Amino acid sequence: MKSRNEIVPPTGRLGVLLVGLGAVSTTFIAGVHAIRKSLASATGSLTQMGTIRLGKRTDGRSPMIRDFIPLASLDDLVFGGWDIFDDNCYEASRTAGVLEPALLDQLRPELEAVRPWPAVFDQKYVKRLMGPNLKTATNKRELADQVIADIRKFKVDNQLDRMVMVWCGSTEIFMTPQPVHQSLAAFEVGLEASDPAIPSSMIYAYAAIKEGLPYANAAPNLSADVPALTELAAQTESPLAGKDLKTGQTLIKTIVAPGLKARLLGIDGWFSTNILGNRDGEVLDDPESFKTKEESKKSVLDYILQPDLHPTLYDDLHHVVRINYYPPRGDNKEGWDNIDLVGWLDYPMQLKINFLCRDSILAAPLVLDLVLFLDLAKRAGMKGVQEWLSFYFKSPIHAPDLYPEHDLFIQLMKLKNTLRFLRGDELITHLGLEYYD
Ligand SMILES: NC(=O)c1ccc[n+]([C@@H]2O[C@H](COP(=O)([O-])OP(=O)(O)OC[C@H]3O[C@@H](n4cnc5c(N)ncnc54)[C@H](O)[C@@H]3O)[C@@H](O)[C@H]2O)c1
Repeated sequence: MKSRNEIVPPTGRLGVLLVGLGAVSTTFIAGVHAIRKSLASATGSLTQMGTIRLGKRTDGRSPMIRDFIPLASLDDLVFGGWDIFDDNCYEASRTAGVLEPALLDQLRPELEAVRPWPAVFDQKYVKRLMGPNLKTATNKRELADQVIADIRKFKVDNQLDRMVMVWCGSTEIFMTPQPVHQSLAAFEVGLEASDPAIPSSMIYAYAAIKEGLPYANAAPNLSADVPALTELAAQTESPLAGKDLKTGQTLIKTIVAPGLKARLLGIDGWFSTNILGNRDGEVLDDPESFKTKEESKKSVLDYILQPDLHPTLYDDLHHVVRINYYPPRGDNKEGWDNIDLVGWLDYPMQLKINFLCRDSILAAPLVLDLVLFLDLAKRAGMKGVQEWLSFYFKSPIHAPDLYPEHDLFIQLMKLKNTLRFLRGDELITHLGLEYYD
Protein backbone atom coordinates (compact mmCIF):
# COMPACT_ATOMS: atom_id res chain seq x y z
CA MET A 1 0.00 0.00 0.00
CA LYS A 2 1.21 3.49 -0.80
CA SER A 3 1.55 6.25 1.77
CA ARG A 4 -0.81 9.19 1.69
CA ASN A 5 1.18 11.30 -0.71
CA GLU A 6 1.59 8.46 -3.16
CA ILE A 7 -2.05 7.92 -4.16
CA VAL A 8 -1.92 8.31 -7.92
CA PRO A 9 -4.26 11.19 -8.89
CA PRO A 10 -7.44 10.26 -10.81
CA THR A 11 -6.48 11.92 -14.06
CA GLY A 12 -8.04 10.89 -17.39
CA ARG A 13 -11.09 8.74 -17.99
CA LEU A 14 -12.24 5.74 -15.96
CA GLY A 15 -13.84 2.85 -17.86
CA VAL A 16 -16.64 1.02 -16.04
CA LEU A 17 -17.14 -2.51 -17.35
CA LEU A 18 -20.45 -4.06 -16.34
CA VAL A 19 -21.22 -7.73 -16.80
CA GLY A 20 -24.97 -7.83 -17.36
CA LEU A 21 -26.96 -4.78 -18.47
CA GLY A 22 -30.01 -5.55 -16.35
CA ALA A 23 -31.97 -3.61 -13.73
CA VAL A 24 -29.02 -2.71 -11.47
CA SER A 25 -26.54 -1.77 -14.22
CA THR A 26 -28.95 0.29 -16.29
CA THR A 27 -30.28 2.13 -13.22
CA PHE A 28 -26.68 2.91 -12.27
CA ILE A 29 -25.64 4.10 -15.75
CA ALA A 30 -28.80 6.15 -16.32
CA GLY A 31 -28.45 7.57 -12.81
CA VAL A 32 -24.90 8.78 -13.42
CA HIS A 33 -25.97 10.48 -16.66
CA ALA A 34 -28.99 12.06 -14.94
CA ILE A 35 -26.78 13.39 -12.12
CA ARG A 36 -24.25 14.73 -14.62
CA LYS A 37 -27.04 16.66 -16.32
CA SER A 38 -28.37 17.89 -12.95
CA LEU A 39 -31.67 16.08 -13.58
CA ALA A 40 -31.48 14.13 -10.31
CA SER A 41 -29.50 13.79 -7.10
CA ALA A 42 -27.11 11.04 -5.98
CA THR A 43 -29.16 10.04 -2.94
CA GLY A 44 -27.80 6.90 -1.27
CA SER A 45 -24.19 7.37 -2.42
CA LEU A 46 -21.51 7.83 0.22
CA THR A 47 -18.95 9.05 -2.31
CA GLN A 48 -21.29 11.78 -3.58
CA MET A 49 -23.18 12.81 -0.44
CA GLY A 50 -21.23 11.48 2.55
CA THR A 51 -19.09 13.50 4.93
CA ILE A 52 -16.20 12.39 7.11
CA ARG A 53 -15.40 13.79 10.52
CA LEU A 54 -11.74 14.68 11.08
CA GLY A 55 -10.11 15.32 14.42
CA LYS A 56 -12.05 16.07 17.62
CA ARG A 57 -15.82 16.66 17.79
CA THR A 58 -14.99 20.20 18.90
CA ASP A 59 -12.90 20.86 15.75
CA GLY A 60 -15.95 21.19 13.50
CA ARG A 61 -14.19 19.58 10.53
CA SER A 62 -16.46 17.31 8.46
CA PRO A 63 -15.60 17.67 4.77
CA MET A 64 -17.37 15.83 1.99
CA ILE A 65 -15.68 12.48 1.38
CA ARG A 66 -15.12 13.38 -2.27
CA ASP A 67 -13.28 16.55 -1.22
CA PHE A 68 -11.17 14.64 1.31
CA ILE A 69 -9.91 11.78 -0.84
CA PRO A 70 -9.07 11.92 -4.58
CA LEU A 71 -11.91 10.12 -6.38
CA ALA A 72 -12.70 9.99 -10.09
CA SER A 73 -15.30 12.55 -11.19
CA LEU A 74 -18.65 11.35 -12.53
CA ASP A 75 -17.85 13.29 -15.71
CA ASP A 76 -14.87 10.99 -16.33
CA LEU A 77 -16.82 7.69 -16.25
CA VAL A 78 -17.25 5.78 -19.53
CA PHE A 79 -19.53 2.71 -19.59
CA GLY A 80 -19.26 -0.58 -21.45
CA GLY A 81 -20.44 -4.12 -20.84
CA TRP A 82 -21.70 -7.52 -21.88
CA ASP A 83 -25.14 -9.10 -21.93
CA ILE A 84 -26.75 -12.18 -23.42
CA PHE A 85 -29.41 -9.86 -24.92
CA ASP A 86 -28.24 -7.35 -27.52
CA ASP A 87 -30.54 -4.51 -26.41
CA ASN A 88 -28.69 -1.23 -25.96
CA CYS A 89 -28.72 0.40 -22.54
CA TYR A 90 -31.77 2.56 -23.36
CA GLU A 91 -33.79 -0.49 -24.46
CA ALA A 92 -32.53 -2.53 -21.51
CA SER A 93 -33.53 0.26 -19.08
CA ARG A 94 -37.03 0.31 -20.59
CA THR A 95 -37.25 -3.48 -20.17
CA ALA A 96 -36.01 -3.28 -16.58
CA GLY A 97 -38.83 -0.83 -15.87
CA VAL A 98 -37.15 0.82 -12.89
CA LEU A 99 -36.86 4.43 -14.06
CA GLU A 100 -39.61 6.56 -15.59
CA PRO A 101 -39.61 6.65 -19.42
CA ALA A 102 -39.69 10.47 -19.23
CA LEU A 103 -36.29 10.50 -17.51
CA LEU A 104 -34.83 7.81 -19.79
CA ASP A 105 -35.91 9.78 -22.87
CA GLN A 106 -33.83 12.74 -21.71
CA LEU A 107 -30.78 10.45 -21.55
CA ARG A 108 -31.53 8.48 -24.69
CA PRO A 109 -28.42 9.28 -26.83
CA GLU A 110 -26.02 8.50 -23.96
CA LEU A 111 -27.83 5.26 -23.14
CA GLU A 112 -28.17 4.12 -26.73
CA ALA A 113 -24.40 4.48 -27.12
CA VAL A 114 -23.85 1.58 -24.69
CA ARG A 115 -24.34 -1.61 -26.71
CA PRO A 116 -23.49 -4.87 -24.97
CA TRP A 117 -20.77 -7.08 -26.37
CA PRO A 118 -21.53 -10.81 -26.80
CA ALA A 119 -21.49 -12.57 -23.44
CA VAL A 120 -19.74 -15.58 -21.97
CA PHE A 121 -22.76 -17.58 -20.88
CA ASP A 122 -23.76 -21.17 -20.21
CA GLN A 123 -27.30 -21.99 -19.18
CA LYS A 124 -25.95 -24.74 -16.94
CA TYR A 125 -25.19 -21.99 -14.41
CA VAL A 126 -28.36 -19.85 -14.78
CA LYS A 127 -31.23 -22.19 -15.57
CA ARG A 128 -34.01 -19.66 -16.17
CA LEU A 129 -32.18 -17.54 -18.73
CA MET A 130 -31.26 -17.77 -22.41
CA GLY A 131 -30.35 -15.11 -24.97
CA PRO A 132 -28.88 -14.68 -28.45
CA ASN A 133 -25.83 -12.45 -27.84
CA LEU A 134 -23.21 -15.08 -26.96
CA LYS A 135 -19.52 -15.75 -27.58
CA THR A 136 -18.45 -19.09 -28.96
CA ALA A 137 -15.09 -20.81 -28.46
CA THR A 138 -13.55 -24.26 -28.24
CA ASN A 139 -12.73 -23.92 -24.54
CA LYS A 140 -13.03 -21.58 -21.53
CA ARG A 141 -9.49 -20.24 -21.93
CA GLU A 142 -10.45 -18.92 -25.36
CA LEU A 143 -13.55 -17.30 -23.84
CA ALA A 144 -11.36 -15.56 -21.26
CA ASP A 145 -9.06 -14.37 -24.08
CA GLN A 146 -12.08 -12.92 -25.90
CA VAL A 147 -13.14 -11.00 -22.78
CA ILE A 148 -9.58 -9.68 -22.44
CA ALA A 149 -9.69 -8.56 -26.09
CA ASP A 150 -12.99 -6.69 -25.38
CA ILE A 151 -11.42 -4.98 -22.35
CA ARG A 152 -8.35 -3.87 -24.31
CA LYS A 153 -10.41 -2.61 -27.24
CA PHE A 154 -12.71 -0.64 -24.91
CA LYS A 155 -9.66 1.01 -23.39
CA VAL A 156 -8.15 2.03 -26.73
CA ASP A 157 -11.45 3.08 -28.36
CA ASN A 158 -12.32 5.37 -25.45
CA GLN A 159 -8.79 6.53 -24.57
CA LEU A 160 -9.22 5.36 -21.00
CA ASP A 161 -6.70 5.83 -18.26
CA ARG A 162 -8.03 3.11 -15.93
CA MET A 163 -10.87 0.56 -15.71
CA VAL A 164 -12.99 -1.27 -13.11
CA MET A 165 -15.21 -4.33 -13.67
CA VAL A 166 -18.42 -5.12 -11.73
CA TRP A 167 -20.39 -8.36 -12.11
CA CYS A 168 -24.05 -7.31 -12.24
CA GLY A 169 -25.07 -10.49 -14.01
CA SER A 170 -27.67 -12.95 -12.79
CA THR A 171 -27.15 -15.11 -9.72
CA GLU A 172 -25.51 -18.38 -10.77
CA ILE A 173 -26.28 -21.78 -9.23
CA PHE A 174 -24.86 -22.62 -5.81
CA MET A 175 -21.28 -23.89 -6.02
CA THR A 176 -18.67 -24.66 -3.39
CA PRO A 177 -14.89 -24.31 -3.90
CA GLN A 178 -13.41 -27.27 -5.78
CA PRO A 179 -9.79 -28.45 -6.33
CA VAL A 180 -9.63 -26.44 -9.60
CA HIS A 181 -10.17 -23.24 -7.56
CA GLN A 182 -7.33 -23.87 -5.13
CA SER A 183 -4.41 -22.46 -7.13
CA LEU A 184 -3.88 -20.30 -10.19
CA ALA A 185 -2.03 -23.12 -11.92
CA ALA A 186 -4.95 -25.53 -11.38
CA PHE A 187 -7.42 -22.86 -12.52
CA GLU A 188 -5.56 -22.19 -15.77
CA VAL A 189 -5.46 -25.93 -16.52
CA GLY A 190 -9.20 -25.95 -15.75
CA LEU A 191 -9.83 -23.11 -18.24
CA GLU A 192 -8.07 -25.06 -20.97
CA ALA A 193 -10.06 -28.21 -20.09
CA SER A 194 -13.37 -26.28 -19.73
CA ASP A 195 -13.77 -27.59 -16.19
CA PRO A 196 -17.49 -27.50 -15.21
CA ALA A 197 -16.52 -25.95 -11.84
CA ILE A 198 -15.61 -22.73 -13.70
CA PRO A 199 -18.87 -20.80 -14.34
CA SER A 200 -19.17 -17.74 -16.60
CA SER A 201 -18.70 -15.25 -13.76
CA MET A 202 -15.26 -16.74 -12.97
CA ILE A 203 -14.18 -16.36 -16.60
CA TYR A 204 -14.98 -12.62 -16.53
CA ALA A 205 -13.32 -12.26 -13.11
CA TYR A 206 -10.20 -14.06 -14.36
CA ALA A 207 -10.02 -11.79 -17.43
CA ALA A 208 -10.40 -8.61 -15.37
CA ILE A 209 -7.89 -9.63 -12.71
CA LYS A 210 -5.41 -10.91 -15.31
CA GLU A 211 -5.52 -7.38 -16.79
CA GLY A 212 -4.88 -5.89 -13.33
CA LEU A 213 -8.39 -4.38 -13.06
CA PRO A 214 -10.25 -3.98 -9.78
CA TYR A 215 -13.18 -6.45 -9.68
CA ALA A 216 -16.40 -6.38 -7.65
CA ASN A 217 -19.17 -8.95 -7.50
CA ALA A 218 -22.65 -7.51 -6.93
CA ALA A 219 -24.21 -11.00 -6.87
CA PRO A 220 -23.81 -13.87 -4.37
CA ASN A 221 -22.15 -16.45 -6.66
CA LEU A 222 -18.52 -17.39 -5.90
CA SER A 223 -16.94 -15.61 -8.88
CA ALA A 224 -13.58 -14.18 -7.69
CA ASP A 225 -13.95 -15.52 -4.13
CA VAL A 226 -11.63 -18.50 -4.63
CA PRO A 227 -7.92 -18.92 -3.78
CA ALA A 228 -6.89 -19.15 -7.47
CA LEU A 229 -8.24 -15.69 -8.25
CA THR A 230 -6.97 -14.06 -5.04
CA GLU A 231 -3.55 -15.48 -5.98
CA LEU A 232 -3.86 -13.86 -9.40
CA ALA A 233 -5.04 -10.59 -7.79
CA ALA A 234 -1.89 -10.52 -5.63
CA GLN A 235 0.26 -10.92 -8.77
CA THR A 236 -1.51 -8.30 -10.85
CA GLU A 237 -2.26 -5.98 -7.87
CA SER A 238 -6.02 -6.04 -8.44
CA PRO A 239 -8.32 -4.97 -5.60
CA LEU A 240 -11.31 -7.31 -5.05
CA ALA A 241 -14.72 -6.71 -3.45
CA GLY A 242 -17.91 -8.78 -3.03
CA LYS A 243 -20.31 -10.48 -2.69
CA ASP A 244 -24.00 -9.62 -3.11
CA LEU A 245 -24.99 -5.98 -2.67
CA LYS A 246 -26.51 -5.22 0.70
CA THR A 247 -29.93 -3.82 -0.25
CA GLY A 248 -33.56 -4.37 0.71
CA GLN A 249 -34.39 -6.80 3.45
CA THR A 250 -30.79 -7.68 4.32
CA LEU A 251 -29.89 -4.01 4.68
CA ILE A 252 -32.69 -3.63 7.22
CA LYS A 253 -31.64 -6.87 8.93
CA THR A 254 -28.09 -5.62 9.41
CA ILE A 255 -29.45 -2.37 10.84
CA VAL A 256 -31.94 -3.97 13.25
CA ALA A 257 -30.04 -7.08 14.40
CA PRO A 258 -27.00 -5.25 15.88
CA GLY A 259 -29.41 -3.05 17.86
CA LEU A 260 -31.28 -6.00 19.35
CA LYS A 261 -28.01 -7.72 20.18
CA ALA A 262 -26.56 -4.56 21.73
CA ARG A 263 -29.50 -4.61 24.20
CA LEU A 264 -29.04 -8.38 24.73
CA LEU A 265 -32.57 -9.17 23.62
CA GLY A 266 -33.02 -12.82 22.66
CA ILE A 267 -34.41 -13.89 19.30
CA ASP A 268 -36.33 -17.15 18.88
CA GLY A 269 -37.18 -16.71 15.24
CA TRP A 270 -36.72 -14.40 12.27
CA PHE A 271 -39.02 -15.10 9.34
CA SER A 272 -38.28 -13.10 6.18
CA THR A 273 -40.27 -13.27 3.00
CA ASN A 274 -40.25 -11.21 -0.20
CA ILE A 275 -42.28 -10.78 -3.36
CA LEU A 276 -40.32 -9.64 -6.39
CA GLY A 277 -41.24 -9.49 -10.06
CA ASN A 278 -38.15 -8.48 -12.02
CA ARG A 279 -35.80 -10.72 -14.04
CA ASP A 280 -33.67 -11.23 -10.94
CA GLY A 281 -36.78 -12.62 -9.22
CA GLU A 282 -37.40 -14.92 -12.18
CA VAL A 283 -33.81 -16.25 -12.04
CA LEU A 284 -34.09 -16.74 -8.27
CA ASP A 285 -37.26 -18.77 -8.82
CA ASP A 286 -34.91 -21.59 -9.82
CA PRO A 287 -34.01 -23.51 -6.65
CA GLU A 288 -30.30 -23.76 -7.56
CA SER A 289 -29.88 -19.99 -8.01
CA PHE A 290 -32.06 -19.35 -4.93
CA LYS A 291 -29.76 -21.60 -2.86
CA THR A 292 -26.83 -19.25 -3.66
CA LYS A 293 -28.93 -16.25 -2.57
CA GLU A 294 -30.31 -18.02 0.50
CA GLU A 295 -26.83 -18.86 1.79
CA SER A 296 -25.81 -15.23 1.33
CA LYS A 297 -28.89 -13.85 3.12
CA LYS A 298 -28.89 -16.34 5.98
CA SER A 299 -25.26 -16.09 7.07
CA VAL A 300 -25.78 -12.47 8.16
CA LEU A 301 -27.55 -13.19 11.45
CA ASP A 302 -25.13 -15.91 12.56
CA TYR A 303 -22.21 -13.52 12.41
CA ILE A 304 -23.98 -10.50 13.88
CA LEU A 305 -25.61 -12.32 16.82
CA GLN A 306 -22.63 -14.57 17.68
CA PRO A 307 -24.66 -17.48 19.14
CA ASP A 308 -21.40 -19.12 20.30
CA LEU A 309 -20.88 -16.21 22.71
CA HIS A 310 -24.58 -15.87 23.61
CA PRO A 311 -26.05 -19.40 23.45
CA THR A 312 -29.03 -18.67 25.70
CA LEU A 313 -30.12 -15.74 23.52
CA TYR A 314 -29.54 -17.03 19.99
CA ASP A 315 -28.76 -20.75 19.90
CA ASP A 316 -32.28 -21.87 18.93
CA LEU A 317 -32.96 -19.08 16.44
CA HIS A 318 -35.15 -20.22 13.52
CA HIS A 319 -34.09 -18.10 10.56
CA VAL A 320 -36.15 -18.57 7.41
CA VAL A 321 -35.72 -16.62 4.16
CA ARG A 322 -38.11 -16.86 1.21
CA ILE A 323 -38.19 -15.11 -2.17
CA ASN A 324 -41.35 -15.43 -4.22
CA TYR A 325 -41.40 -14.49 -7.90
CA TYR A 326 -44.49 -12.32 -8.38
CA PRO A 327 -44.46 -10.50 -11.76
CA PRO A 328 -47.00 -7.70 -11.00
CA ARG A 329 -44.51 -6.02 -8.67
CA GLY A 330 -41.60 -5.71 -11.12
CA ASP A 331 -38.57 -4.19 -9.42
CA ASN A 332 -40.69 -2.81 -6.55
CA LYS A 333 -40.04 -5.54 -4.06
CA GLU A 334 -42.03 -5.96 -0.87
CA GLY A 335 -40.41 -7.64 2.11
CA TRP A 336 -41.96 -8.77 5.39
CA ASP A 337 -40.02 -9.67 8.50
CA ASN A 338 -41.48 -11.19 11.60
CA ILE A 339 -39.06 -11.24 14.53
CA ASP A 340 -39.93 -13.23 17.66
CA LEU A 341 -38.04 -11.50 20.43
CA VAL A 342 -37.43 -12.47 24.03
CA GLY A 343 -36.98 -9.93 26.83
CA TRP A 344 -36.42 -9.71 30.60
CA LEU A 345 -37.51 -12.91 32.38
CA ASP A 346 -38.04 -14.54 28.97
CA TYR A 347 -41.18 -12.57 28.14
CA PRO A 348 -41.94 -12.83 24.37
CA MET A 349 -42.45 -9.88 22.02
CA GLN A 350 -42.87 -9.46 18.27
CA LEU A 351 -41.50 -6.96 15.80
CA LYS A 352 -42.96 -6.71 12.26
CA ILE A 353 -41.25 -4.91 9.41
CA ASN A 354 -42.89 -4.28 6.06
CA PHE A 355 -40.45 -2.72 3.60
CA LEU A 356 -41.81 -1.55 0.25
CA CYS A 357 -38.53 -0.88 -1.45
CA ARG A 358 -37.14 -0.49 -4.94
CA ASP A 359 -34.34 -2.95 -5.30
CA SER A 360 -32.31 -1.30 -8.03
CA ILE A 361 -32.81 2.20 -6.61
CA LEU A 362 -31.08 0.90 -3.48
CA ALA A 363 -28.41 -0.97 -5.46
CA ALA A 364 -27.34 1.65 -8.03
CA PRO A 365 -25.58 4.07 -5.62
CA LEU A 366 -23.67 1.13 -4.15
CA VAL A 367 -22.33 0.24 -7.61
CA LEU A 368 -21.22 3.85 -8.08
CA ASP A 369 -19.41 3.92 -4.72
CA LEU A 370 -17.75 0.57 -5.41
CA VAL A 371 -16.47 1.74 -8.79
CA LEU A 372 -14.99 4.92 -7.31
CA PHE A 373 -13.56 3.30 -4.17
CA LEU A 374 -12.07 0.33 -6.07
CA ASP A 375 -10.41 2.75 -8.47
CA LEU A 376 -9.08 4.63 -5.43
CA ALA A 377 -7.81 1.33 -3.96
CA LYS A 378 -5.93 0.53 -7.17
CA ARG A 379 -4.38 4.01 -7.29
CA ALA A 380 -3.41 3.65 -3.63
CA GLY A 381 -1.63 0.32 -4.27
CA MET A 382 -4.15 -1.77 -2.27
CA LYS A 383 -4.50 -5.24 -3.72
CA GLY A 384 -6.57 -8.38 -3.07
CA VAL A 385 -9.56 -8.47 -0.68
CA GLN A 386 -10.76 -4.97 0.29
CA GLU A 387 -12.42 -5.71 3.61
CA TRP A 388 -13.13 -2.02 4.20
CA LEU A 389 -15.74 -2.28 1.42
CA SER A 390 -17.75 -4.89 3.42
CA PHE A 391 -20.21 -2.02 4.05
CA TYR A 392 -21.70 -2.71 0.63
CA PHE A 393 -22.21 -6.48 0.78
CA LYS A 394 -24.41 -9.20 2.25
CA SER A 395 -21.57 -11.76 2.18
CA PRO A 396 -18.37 -9.73 2.51
CA ILE A 397 -15.27 -11.47 1.24
CA HIS A 398 -12.57 -11.79 3.88
CA ALA A 399 -9.23 -13.40 4.70
CA PRO A 400 -9.57 -17.20 5.15
CA ASP A 401 -8.83 -17.18 8.90
CA LEU A 402 -11.23 -14.32 9.78
CA TYR A 403 -14.97 -14.23 10.18
CA PRO A 404 -16.70 -11.51 8.13
CA GLU A 405 -17.93 -8.32 9.80
CA HIS A 406 -21.67 -7.84 9.05
CA ASP A 407 -22.65 -5.01 11.40
CA LEU A 408 -23.39 -2.03 9.12
CA PHE A 409 -22.13 0.52 11.63
CA ILE A 410 -18.84 -1.26 12.32
CA GLN A 411 -18.45 -1.60 8.55
CA LEU A 412 -18.99 2.14 8.08
CA MET A 413 -16.47 2.97 10.80
CA LYS A 414 -13.95 0.64 9.15
CA LEU A 415 -14.55 2.29 5.76
CA LYS A 416 -14.12 5.83 7.07
CA ASN A 417 -11.06 4.90 9.13
CA THR A 418 -9.52 3.39 6.00
CA LEU A 419 -10.03 6.70 4.19
CA ARG A 420 -8.49 8.61 7.14
CA PHE A 421 -5.59 6.16 7.15
CA LEU A 422 -5.01 6.60 3.41
CA ARG A 423 -4.83 10.37 3.88
CA GLY A 424 -2.57 10.05 6.93
CA ASP A 425 -5.30 11.51 9.18
CA GLU A 426 -5.89 10.49 12.78
CA LEU A 427 -8.19 7.42 13.17
CA ILE A 428 -11.36 7.94 15.20
CA THR A 429 -11.92 5.46 18.04
CA HIS A 430 -14.92 7.23 19.66
CA LEU A 431 -13.18 6.94 23.06
CA GLY A 432 -13.74 10.64 23.79
CA LEU A 433 -12.22 10.75 27.31
CA GLU A 434 -10.20 13.83 26.37
CA TYR A 435 -13.36 15.96 26.33
CA TYR A 436 -13.71 15.39 30.12
CA ASP A 437 -10.09 15.81 31.25
N1 LIG B 1 -31.28 -5.32 -7.33
C1 LIG B 1 -30.68 -5.43 -6.16
O1 LIG B 1 -30.95 -4.68 -5.25
C2 LIG B 1 -29.64 -6.47 -5.95
C3 LIG B 1 -29.12 -6.57 -4.68
C4 LIG B 1 -28.15 -7.51 -4.43
C5 LIG B 1 -27.69 -8.31 -5.45
N2 LIG B 1 -28.25 -8.22 -6.69
C6 LIG B 1 -27.75 -9.13 -7.69
O2 LIG B 1 -27.22 -8.39 -8.77
C7 LIG B 1 -27.42 -9.12 -9.97
C8 LIG B 1 -28.11 -8.21 -10.97
O3 LIG B 1 -29.40 -7.88 -10.50
P1 LIG B 1 -30.48 -7.26 -11.48
O4 LIG B 1 -31.65 -6.92 -10.65
O5 LIG B 1 -29.84 -6.22 -12.32
O6 LIG B 1 -30.83 -8.53 -12.38
P2 LIG B 1 -31.31 -8.55 -13.90
O7 LIG B 1 -31.83 -9.92 -14.14
O8 LIG B 1 -32.19 -7.39 -14.21
O9 LIG B 1 -29.95 -8.31 -14.72
C9 LIG B 1 -28.98 -9.29 -14.86
C10 LIG B 1 -28.47 -9.20 -16.29
O10 LIG B 1 -27.34 -10.04 -16.41
C11 LIG B 1 -27.40 -10.66 -17.68
N3 LIG B 1 -26.53 -11.83 -17.62
C12 LIG B 1 -26.72 -12.99 -16.95
N4 LIG B 1 -25.65 -13.79 -17.12
C13 LIG B 1 -24.77 -13.13 -17.88
C14 LIG B 1 -23.47 -13.43 -18.39
N5 LIG B 1 -22.89 -14.60 -18.13
N6 LIG B 1 -22.84 -12.50 -19.13
C15 LIG B 1 -23.43 -11.30 -19.40
N7 LIG B 1 -24.67 -10.97 -18.96
C16 LIG B 1 -25.32 -11.87 -18.20
C17 LIG B 1 -28.87 -10.94 -17.88
O11 LIG B 1 -29.18 -11.14 -19.23
C18 LIG B 1 -29.51 -9.67 -17.32
O12 LIG B 1 -29.68 -8.68 -18.30
C19 LIG B 1 -28.25 -10.34 -9.61
O13 LIG B 1 -27.38 -11.45 -9.46
C20 LIG B 1 -28.84 -9.98 -8.29
O14 LIG B 1 -29.12 -11.12 -7.48
C21 LIG B 1 -29.19 -7.30 -6.96
